[in-house]
Amino acid sequence: MDTDRLKGKNVVITGAAQGMGAAIAEHYAAQGAKVCVTDVNIDGCNAVVDRIKAQGGEAIAVQVDVTKRRDIQIAIESAVGAFGSINVMLNNAGINKPLMFLDITEENWHSIMDINALGVLLGMQEAAKQMIKQGKQDYPYKIINVGSILSRQAFDDVVPYSCSKHAVLAMINGGAKALAAENITVNGYGPGVVRTELWEQLDKDLVAIGKFEKEGESMDKLAEDMILLKRYSYPKDVVGTASFLASAESDYMTGQLLMIDGGMVLQ
Ligand SMILES: NC(=O)c1ccc[n+]([C@@H]2O[C@H](COP(=O)([O-])OP(=O)(O)OC[C@H]3O[C@@H](n4cnc5c(N)ncnc54)[C@H](O)[C@@H]3O)[C@@H](O)[C@H]2O)c1
Repeated sequence: MDTDRLKGKNVVITGAAQGMGAAIAEHYAAQGAKVCVTDVNIDGCNAVVDRIKAQGGEAIAVQVDVTKRRDIQIAIESAVGAFGSINVMLNNAGINKPLMFLDITEENWHSIMDINALGVLLGMQEAAKQMIKQGKQDYPYKIINVGSILSRQAFDDVVPYSCSKHAVLAMINGGAKALAAENITVNGYGPGVVRTELWEQLDKDLVAIGKFEKEGESMDKLAEDMILLKRYSYPKDVVGTASFLASAESDYMTGQLLMIDGGMVLQ
């Protein structure tokens, strides 16, 4: 359903060439937001922008590696150049590579922590600096960080990923405290098992490390064993909450992480 819910919102989204980021970019644009679609994969960004424009929306594509501060600055500058300002930053880029605990390497740790945790910090800092520069507005600027069910617990085969998503929760909490005086809210959401390219790869990797016997089994088994609603999810299950957090309906919320997991982690 298209609405004007996000009219007037100028948004930067990281990791938006595919998966949930792409679905959210399109959903935001359909609700009136102007969207800066960023990712290391610029061809994917351009494809998302083309789809948005074909629906009558407004968007630009910028190549960004979230571990590089200058890349994020350029994306924000590009969004301000194209749209006049930014008022929402969605830090979505993330990766996973499962390894059993004793097999975790420094490379595995650093690659996951750099993209999933440092990348979020850099996105928050650069967005906040721009928002502060723009001056206070009547309604809050919004930073939205993508956590996970693994922001609240850890699985033994994805400990660095769990650490990175716990770090995201810490940055939601600490960022909300740091930025409230600047009229910037910081919230996030935590998906559970979402069928995206990330999980397609994870499914193969989990078989390779012996966690599951055959490909295609992991999502169904987790749904059966751990998800109250007994099904895994798709990006369309996440876009509504992501939209709520960017909209005026969440103006009086800050420091919160909302789970969208079909009932995997109950708080
Ligand atoms: N799929 C799930 O089940 C699930 C569950 C919980 C949380 N999440 C989180 O949701 C977010 C989106 O995941 P998804 O499932 O849509 O994944 P995805 O793999 O489909 O999309 C992630 C995107 O991030 C991009 N990316 C990777 N490294 C990057 C970098 N250094 N800089 C910029 N972009 C980079 C990739 O190119 C890709 O387009 C991630 O933060 C992920 O950890 C996913």
